[in-house]
Amino acid sequence: MTSPSTTISLVDTDPAELAVDAIVIGLHSQTGEQDIAGPAGALLLASGAESIAAAFDGKLTETLALLGATGAPGEVIKLATLGTITAPVVAAVGLGAEPTGAAPAPETLRRAAGSVVRALAGARRVALTLPLPDDADAPAALRAVAEGALLGSYRFAGYKTRPQPARREPVAEVLIAVPEAGDATAQAEVERAQAVAGAVRLTRDWVNTAPNMLRPPAFADVVAEAARAAGLGVEVLDEEALAAGGYGGIIAVGQGSEAPPRLVKLTYTPEGGGTGKRVALVGKGITFDTGGISIKPAQGMWEMKSDMGGAAAVGAAMLAIAALKPAVAVTGYLPMAENMPSGTSYRPGDVITMYNGKKVEVLNTDAEGRMVLGDALARACEDGADYLFETSTLTGGQVISLGKRIAGVMGSPELCERVRVAGDAVGEPAWPMPLPDDVRKGMDSDVADISQVNAGMDRAGHMLQGGVFLREFVTDEVAWAHIDIAGPSYHSGEPTGYWTKGGTGVPVRTLIHLVEDVATNG
Ligand code: BES
Ligand code: MN
Ligand code: ZN
Repeated sequence: MTSPSTTISLVDTDPAELAVDAIVIGLHSQTGEQDIAGPAGALLLASGAESIAAAFDGKLTETLALLGATGAPGEVIKLATLGTITAPVVAAVGLGAEPTGAAPAPETLRRAAGSVVRALAGARRVALTLPLPDDADAPAALRAVAEGALLGSYRFAGYKTRPQPARREPVAEVLIAVPEAGDATAQAEVERAQAVAGAVRLTRDWVNTAPNMLRPPAFADVVAEAARAAGLGVEVLDEEALAAGGYGGIIAVGQGSEAPPRLVKLTYTPEGGGTGKRVALVGKGITFDTGGISIKPAQGMWEMKSDMGGAAAVGAAMLAIAALKPAVAVTGYLPMAENMPSGTSYRPGDVITMYNGKKVEVLNTDAEGRMVLGDALARACEDGADYLFETSTLTGGQVISLGKRIAGVMGSPELCERVRVAGDAVGEPAWPMPLPDDVRKGMDSDVADISQVNAGMDRAGHMLQGGVFLREFVTDEVAWAHIDIAGPSYHSGEPTGYWTKGGTGVPVRTLIHLVEDVATNG
């Protein structure tokens, strides 16, 4: 089942004359020194709205104020135009205070576009006249608006047997007003936004899919099929190949389920060989995490269908990379398993020989992500990589320490900083965290090379325990970063900005940005 899609195109004709179902304008809240009387004075139309304002004889801000508009970020106020312009509806979206002397930040535009396109569900065709700078920042702003619109219009198809007549369909067509619709740079930005947002939407679809419908063999099949169609190299290791190859961690986690584990490897080879640098992407693909023998409580367990969000992000990012063709070799590794309690499950006390030969003492079968990732990281290093980015819904500790928006990053300090900068650039914030010696000391095992978690199961700093454990499977010459997305990959609250309920698609945009960054800057 595929979710309804949205198309984007550029227009440069007068917005007042566009035959669309709604015109979107931007609205700033005015703060500061001005001594303005009355509520209307607190509002400021954003640039781009000039011809619409003119059609309203200068009464547009006043009318919006009467309807309660404040210009706060995320606010959407709709207004019937009663023949003043061609479109029947104007929708004003809040952009917050106007930044002095500059256009709004890309993330402000991305969220505004997402909020307003979401609020306009039910309209088929809408035009956005948001403030775009006319300098070197123009491409980034246009990219943000296009991405926000494409992500705000996302809706998971779901499984309802009957059509839902009362449900408003997502906006199908978005026009973005720009100075020059034929401009090649602007067109390229739209195409890029479509590839990137397409990957985010696909990640959301995979995360939102019911876990009985996406067990490891099915997940591997759907990823492999999409990757082949995109021209990527595809290799799928099944349970026999995994056992024969010595992937002890993936086998251990997968052995409790009737649906056997997989390791999917996707390869992108740049034309002409690229820069010679090699990037590896690794994503945790636990299609459902019950905790296994160390079983989780029932409350909220259903959200553990999102425990393959890292693998989904890596798979979808690889598809976008195939479309964007950066000049760098990229390989994706997606270890997939279902973590179930059964008579064949791995158990606390087991000692597992991992792909790199290290022996791990299992203490808690719910720390399964690091078991499958340890093998995948070791394989990625064996294949050869200059940069290794791994992402996973690894620990509840990430949510405790950094919350639901900001991912935790651990690994080589320079690469962690690069992830932070990339996340900042795309609107997927990430924050570097340390890998302390005392945390590693606490994971010394009496019987094996390392315990899977703190030897006394002390949960202090348990996000860091995850990072410290994973480091054991990365070879010294590889620069690596582990991105813990337990919080930001899944949004259980009400929709906000371009985030809908369920999978968010984090950190697909960061991964794509990092690959392009390495292709350009080495
Ligand atoms: N998949 C979970 C982590 C998680 C928690 C993701 C909440 C998203 C939201 C992971 O496999 C897990 O169970 N982690 C344990 C680790 C512990 C056993 C060391 C946790 O967070 O408690
Ligand atoms: Mn778990
Ligand atoms: Zn898990």
